[in-house]
Amino acid sequence: MSMIYTVRQMKVLGIESSCDETAASVVEDGRVLLSNVINSQIDIHAVYGGVVPEVAARSHLEVINPVINQALATANTSWDDIDAIAVTYAPGLIGSLLVGTLAARTLAILKDKPLYPIHHVEAHVYANFITGQTDSLSLSLPSKQPEFPMLALIVSGGHSQLALFKDHGDYELLGQTQDDAVGEAFDKVAKILGLPYPGGPSLEKLAPSGDSHKYEFPKAKMQNSYDFSFSGLKTAVLRAVQREVGVDFTFPSHELAARLNGVQRADFAASFVRIATETLVDKTERAFRDYAPRSVVIAGGVAASPPLRKALSARLPLAIEYAPMQLCTDNAAMIATLGYYYAQKNDPVDPLLLEVVPSLSMTQTAWKRSLS
Ligand code: KG4
Ligand code: ZN
Repeated sequence: MSMIYTVRQMKVLGIESSCDETAASVVEDGRVLLSNVINSQIDIHAVYGGVVPEVAARSHLEVINPVINQALATANTSWDDIDAIAVTYAPGLIGSLLVGTLAARTLAILKDKPLYPIHHVEAHVYANFITGQTDSLSLSLPSKQPEFPMLALIVSGGHSQLALFKDHGDYELLGQTQDDAVGEAFDKVAKILGLPYPGGPSLEKLAPSGDSHKYEFPKAKMQNSYDFSFSGLKTAVLRAVQREVGVDFTFPSHELAARLNGVQRADFAASFVRIATETLVDKTERAFRDYAPRSVVIAGGVAASPPLRKALSARLPLAIEYAPMQLCTDNAAMIATLGYYYAQKNDPVDPLLLEVVPSLSMTQTAWKRSLS
């Protein structure tokens, strides 16, 4: 084991604001959740059918201080007890990232705390390392932490990737999407069918009442068998909907949904969810066979999907303990958790110098890889 635990009982305050959730959380020793405050903007953005960046940034600004204060209060923690601050600095919407990092930088200076820059996508994986909680929370948590080597299927609104972790901060990307992320495909297909944002839960609510074999959508064939492509699937759904309602591709797509009846909508939802899920499970199973990891985890908003969890558990010959859904979609507990492991191997960043990076692969994070 290369890790040296120098600090006992380290409490990290995590701050997350990369997209449309303003969140703060306190986590002890990268394992025990003491508070998990999330202010979601879903209602604000649902009106527009997706996240509006300027609206998101403004909303973060309004709630960031109360959210942080509430995270400390519900964790029963004063500033004296906080050992470090971890904040999402990449990737995400620039205005949204700026609000969270500015708050974290200011607090790091004022309260004299070390500050650690955290990559949002990498942090999603760390939701799976939370195995304990304070009495006032009642999440259904895994009974033990994942072991290395660990295969991670990371599926969110912006990312679809398979990564193999040998240790904290020491991993390789086996494959990733070449176009749309799977969450993006869920959101776009939901929009075509006239279902509310976010698309994942909307489609899954409808899918059980539909025929999942009514439409046979194609699975993309990729050169690297771990890569994904979801843009073709989304277009295949669009074309099938156009055929079903008897219009061609010049027909405005936002008017299609009104021409579908309830049965058609449910059949499309069920068929799409089945193919999207099968695609993710096929690739994860292949990587499992090729790399024989000790643990498999799923991470990111789409990891909250019950059909995905069910299909993966049915296909893989190992018991998977999933993180609770509240920790799969965006939250700050995952930021505080990764912050702890990151702090074991890295120096804090100068709060005056931390900059946001809206677009950054997780393989380009600031980990001192040579130490791992
Ligand atoms: O990780 P996340 O909260 O934000 C990003 O970092 O992107 O992921 C959001 C994505 C959305 O595309 C949403 O449709 C999807 O996660 N999602 C789901 C479910 N809950 C959220 N997809 C499938 N099933 C769900 N239950
Ligand atoms: Zn996310």
